[in-house]
Amino acid sequence: MGVVMVGSGNLATHLGYVISRAGFLFDQIYSRTEEHAQMLADNLGAKKAITDLDEIIRDADFYIIAVKDDAIAEVATALKKVSGVVLHTSGSTDISVLSGSQGGYGVLYPLQTFSKEVPVDFTKIPLIMEFSEANTKTKVMNLVVKISPLIYEYNSLQRRCLHLGAVLSCNFTNYLYTIAHQFLGEKEVDFNLLRPLIAETAQKVQEHNPADVQTGPAMRADENIVKEHLELLEVHPDWKVLYRLLSQGITNSRHVF
Ligand SMILES: NC(=O)c1ccc[n+]([C@@H]2O[C@H](COP(=O)([O-])OP(=O)(O)OC[C@H]3O[C@@H](n4cnc5c(N)ncnc54)[C@H](OP(=O)(O)O)[C@@H]3O)[C@@H](O)[C@H]2O)c1
Repeated sequence: MGVVMVGSGNLATHLGYVISRAGFLFDQIYSRTEEHAQMLADNLGAKKAITDLDEIIRDADFYIIAVKDDAIAEVATALKKVSGVVLHTSGSTDISVLSGSQGGYGVLYPLQTFSKEVPVDFTKIPLIMEFSEANTKTKVMNLVVKISPLIYEYNSLQRRCLHLGAVLSCNFTNYLYTIAHQFLGEKEVDFNLLRPLIAETAQKVQEHNPADVQTGPAMRADENIVKEHLELLEVHPDWKVLYRLLSQGITNSRHVF
């Protein structure tokens, strides 16, 4: 079965590898940047790297859109006349952006964080799916069952909510790590000392409700400590606002849960 990958970034790279390992062949890899398209095409053994949407063949079995969310609509328009199934991979983009695709369409949103250089195990990644119709679902399932056993069907609004949960849990948490890293660097304290704590925090929510395992000065109502921390953040007003808001949220949660 032939696949066209539209995009060559973090997700296109990982999804490309797992689809290739599952025995599918890539007809084309499209990217705006020739070097990116060629590199992924070489790595996946694809027949051709292209940089022009007009060059995309019409008779592949699957077209996977893995570009920046704001560019999905433009790519979808270029794929309207293809005979294969068109899938986008975005957490928050509505399935309707693909409506009018003649070969059927759907969403394949892998719920994980992907960076090109960090390996992932797809068998542990939930795939959040949505389909234009039953016939399309049958075709797409032939592909996705070979990628992960964790397949879930949700509508576009539910998927957007899931994505928002992912932004809170992953992107925002990682940004807080970034702040901690920079702050400790400025104070000449080793960020590596936090790694066991970070690992334990992530491990605890695997088995507990997060609200049940909340700790820290705001949770204990240690107001003097909160005040001292805010003073330390005087030179970083943005981080101070974040610290105050998050502490307030934790304080409020003491009365809710
Ligand atoms: N990374 C994740 O953790 C993750 C997880 C789940 C779902 N997703 C979804 O996967 C999709 C791709 O995300 P990503 O993280 O892989 O992004 P990324 O690494 O930043 O790659 C973005 C890709 O989009 C292309 N692109 C950017 N602007 C474009 C435009 N105007 N027209 C055509 N192509 C354009 C880039 O092409 P160039 O190479 O030419 O710059 C690149 O191939 C998004 O819909 C995202 O929501 C990502």
